[in-house]
Amino acid sequence: MDIIKVKDYQEMSEKACSHVINNIHRQDAPVLGLATGSTPEGLYKQLIEKYRQKKVSFEQTTTFNLDEYVGLENDDRNSYHYYMQEKLFNHIDISAEKANLPNGSAADLEQECRNYEAQIQQANGIDLQILGIGLNGHIGFNEPGVSFASRTHVVDLAASTREANARFFPSLEDVPTQAITMGIETIMESKAILLLVSGKQKTEAVARFVNGEISEGFPASVLQQHPQVTLIADEAALGEV
Ligand code: PGA
Repeated sequence: MDIIKVKDYQEMSEKACSHVINNIHRQDAPVLGLATGSTPEGLYKQLIEKYRQKKVSFEQTTTFNLDEYVGLENDDRNSYHYYMQEKLFNHIDISAEKANLPNGSAADLEQECRNYEAQIQQANGIDLQILGIGLNGHIGFNEPGVSFASRTHVVDLAASTREANARFFPSLEDVPTQAITMGIETIMESKAILLLVSGKQKTEAVARFVNGEISEGFPASVLQQHPQVTLIADEAALGEV
């Protein structure tokens, strides 16, 4: 694993942006795995900036987001579809057909999970998967206890995850109780992983991720077995690591 220590959130976002652009430039038809939450927002701002400066184009890029809430329409302000439109897709030249997220309002969620896996396969897999880490070690919405053999599936969100995400909703009751997420095996099949972490609230999670035992009780620990992981973390998040 490559660990890149940076000063702060801004530097993490800038370094992540260079890493993503280098990856895009290495492929004829790049496939990126994208994440939501607070962590990648700065990266997306940087990518938009580089696009405006004509340093990168997303015309040939296909993207697959990690997850989506169940039960929110795509145009709901709290859906990850909406987040991605607002924070990235509306501002770059990616084509709508190539920007994929699981459909959390599909009538048949199990079928939607299978379709999503098939779409990833058809694109020849993910070249670079961007990840954040939850306080409980979740990646995507793979909560503690998830099987390392899981593929895209429907999950019940942990109480701590709903509480952590309640800041985006009018109240805790409004946070959906389920989501569709890529599984651990889906994530592990990405050719490379870029994990971004910022802030002292994540110190313990980073320490467990880097040095802890590999266990389904702390899903991010599985990444220790991935051959191509880059962790970009700021000083606050790295703590003593
Ligand atoms: P955050 O979420 O970026 O909003 O901290 C990360 C995660 O829960 O995966």
